[in-house]
Amino acid sequence: MKILITGGAGFIGSHVVRHFIHKYPQYNIINLDLLTYAGNLENIKDIEDAPNYTFVKGDIQDIDQMRGLFTKYEIDAVIHLAAESHVDRSISDPFVFIKTNVLGTATLLQVAKEKWQDNMEGKLFYHVSTDEVYGSLEDTGLFYEDTAYDPRSPYSASKASSDHFVRAWHHTYGLPVVLSNCSNNYGANQFPEKLIPLFINNIINEKPLPVYGKGINVRDWLYVEDHASAIDVIFHKGRNGETYNIGGHNEWRNIDLIKLLIKLTDAKLGRPEGSSEKLITYVTDRAGHDLRYAIDASKLKDELGWVPSLQFEEGLGKTIDWYLENKDWLANVISGDYQKYYENQYGSAIG
Ligand SMILES: NC(=O)c1ccc[n+]([C@@H]2O[C@H](COP(=O)([O-])OP(=O)(O)OC[C@H]3O[C@@H](n4cnc5c(N)ncnc54)[C@H](O)[C@@H]3O)[C@@H](O)[C@H]2O)c1
Repeated sequence: MKILITGGAGFIGSHVVRHFIHKYPQYNIINLDLLTYAGNLENIKDIEDAPNYTFVKGDIQDIDQMRGLFTKYEIDAVIHLAAESHVDRSISDPFVFIKTNVLGTATLLQVAKEKWQDNMEGKLFYHVSTDEVYGSLEDTGLFYEDTAYDPRSPYSASKASSDHFVRAWHHTYGLPVVLSNCSNNYGANQFPEKLIPLFINNIINEKPLPVYGKGINVRDWLYVEDHASAIDVIFHKGRNGETYNIGGHNEWRNIDLIKLLIKLTDAKLGRPEGSSEKLITYVTDRAGHDLRYAIDASKLKDELGWVPSLQFEEGLGKTIDWYLENKDWLANVISGDYQKYYENQYGSAIG
């Protein structure tokens, strides 16, 4: 099988690529990534020489390039992760989200349909999405697969729109598809604009820890390698046209998560317990900040047998260790040097 994974130089995509490369040596993995600010080939340098791996720098919005890629590599399946993914950036620059997440996804769908329409047997378009499409919960309740969409940020609206287009290509053109909507991920290689790596980095460097509002927003956290294993299960066993929620049954108020992060990181740094709490700085809340997300992932458990493998403290501990052991990765991301990796590694050999 020849699988196109989009966004494989990003946070979750790099874990998905590594998971598939190691677990399925019989598959050929083509990793397509535009290498935006969020794409970092250092995330996957350990597998770049694998015989079943090819990297292509490209843009999912470029229909001619996508057509050429599908033909050249005889793509059988797509696992689509490429996206603009940071809510704060979507508030300051919504159009790049609309272009990448909506037009980019529609472009890929159209090319997959064109290339596969004579024989859809054995083909699959897997769209990776977020629980944020469901909107915001109050103190109780969960998101189910049939919860009505109610996106409230430009990011979640663009992802919701892309989900609708995936279903439209399935119902209208018969494209075999599967979708998953996942809760917040954490783990190694996450760009330090997101809460957990940002705060670990700031605790290490004794910089302020900016907490939105009162810190009472609740998120359901999942270890990124568990997301990759769920994607594997859904890719192989998910039913055509179905959607699966993925979550960790692991809800945390931001402020409680931050205090746990401080406790664990201080301990690893040999600092007195809680000493970094003085770094907490409350800042004006994010516009339209969703109060609470919580996933019901029982369909995935009951139908496909997937459950998360890690408890939160264990996953968080592993994550902090990774950032402490990979200070060069962090420094390169913060300085922007990671963007030179492509040039150094590939020069202009791959377009
Ligand atoms: N991070 C989370 O907590 C989370 C949770 C649920 C779902 N998701 C979804 O999972 C996917 C991956 O999220 P992430 O956190 O790894 O994102 P990320 O921002 O770390 O990575 C996105 C990747 O997409 C690439 N990309 C962006 N525009 C592109 C384009 N036009 N063509 C090709 N590549 C392009 C970037 O270079 C980057 O490597 C996204 O679709 C996101 O919506 C993320």
